[in-house]
Amino acid sequence: MNAIDPAIHIAAANIRLDGVTKSYGAMTVIPKLDVEFRAGEFTVVLGPSGCGKSTLMQMIAGLERISGGKIVIGDREVQDLEPRERGCAMVFQNYALYPHMTVFDNIAYSLKIAGLSKAERRVRVDIVAKMLGLADHLDRKPGQLSGGQRQRVAIGRAIVREPAVLLFDEPLSNLDAQLRHDTRIELAELHRRIGATTVFVTHDQVEAMTLADRILILNKGEIEQYDTPKAIYHKPASMFVAKFIGSPPMNILPIKSDGSVLRLSDGQPVAKCHLKGEFQLGVRPEDILVDTTGDASAIKAHVRYREDLGSHSILVADLSGTMVRITTPFGSQAPESNVLLLSCPQTKLHLFDTVTGKAIAGAFTATTKDQK
Ligand SMILES: Nc1ncnc2c1ncn2[C@@H]1O[C@H](COP(=O)(O)OP(=O)(O)OP(=O)(O)O)[C@@H](O)[C@H]1O
Ligand SMILES: [Mg+2]
Repeated sequence: MNAIDPAIHIAAANIRLDGVTKSYGAMTVIPKLDVEFRAGEFTVVLGPSGCGKSTLMQMIAGLERISGGKIVIGDREVQDLEPRERGCAMVFQNYALYPHMTVFDNIAYSLKIAGLSKAERRVRVDIVAKMLGLADHLDRKPGQLSGGQRQRVAIGRAIVREPAVLLFDEPLSNLDAQLRHDTRIELAELHRRIGATTVFVTHDQVEAMTLADRILILNKGEIEQYDTPKAIYHKPASMFVAKFIGSPPMNILPIKSDGSVLRLSDGQPVAKCHLKGEFQLGVRPEDILVDTTGDASAIKAHVRYREDLGSHSILVADLSGTMVRITTPFGSQAPESNVLLLSCPQTKLHLFDTVTGKAIAGAFTATTKDQK
């Protein structure tokens, strides 16, 4: 039992999709999905528009039928069950509250349908309202609330039923930046307190990085990577993931290796590499160091322009014919000429296959400089 909220008892359940497929007529949206969302975890689903994120959520909730495979929640196969029998609650971007009902009645509605007495409804709604900071607004209609308060009513309506699974489909995208930030913190706190298995769709990578125990990156209905935020950021499994997470995104440059040295198109050596061939090199803007020591091994680039963002600056430079972004401390000395000397620890370099875009592990030969 939760010590703070004695009447909210969530028994988190894991969600397993076994070979789930989804087509609309001749169009396949999900070719075949095998994934497990672990009990009590907060999973963020990220991916470009149209990749199947909402479809995935609706299939779990039971609002869309699956074309093939199985969905298991806890120990029950649910693909043939009605939405209300699945133990899921869903919060949408357009949270569609009943405009003629008070906040209390909006939150209590599902409890009324479930046959709870007036007294029981009062207790449950009071607890949820207190938790979400809505206790003083229970008699208002949705039209008398701010966007953020309305979103909290929608969340309250979802959690009051004590679902084992909470599904959010871009719930914060209608809110302004400040409110988004505040609601994000509230959601993290809420998850910590109630612990329901949560699947959360967003386009916002800050939300993904800060809220998720695990991030699922989808591309055309298939998994690109499913891992912790840290692994997604530092060990992207593909160029797709590397470019999708990070702001500014990872720099990608064409590169060649003769089996011992990796060289840029203009011949400048970058690292030792025992593979031979043409690849794509990835390096994050914050992992490129501007060298002021005049090290002879530094890589030369030409600054094109500079963006001062207050907390830091971003240099845009031509590196062997590719425009790269480099994050530097705000107000750092601009070079007298436009020539920049750069270095990057080998451990921060990523090598990708040019054709498949997949990351290539263990390609670099360690140097004494990196072992220090
Ligand atoms: N009812 C439907 N009938 C036919 N096609 C559909 C239907 N619903 C979704 N689709 C198609 O399925 C694909 C996936 O849609 P989905 O809504 O899951 O994408 P999404 O990842 O949620 O995108 P967004 O980020 O824009 O919300 C899209 O190509 C969409 O056009
Ligand atoms: Mg969607």
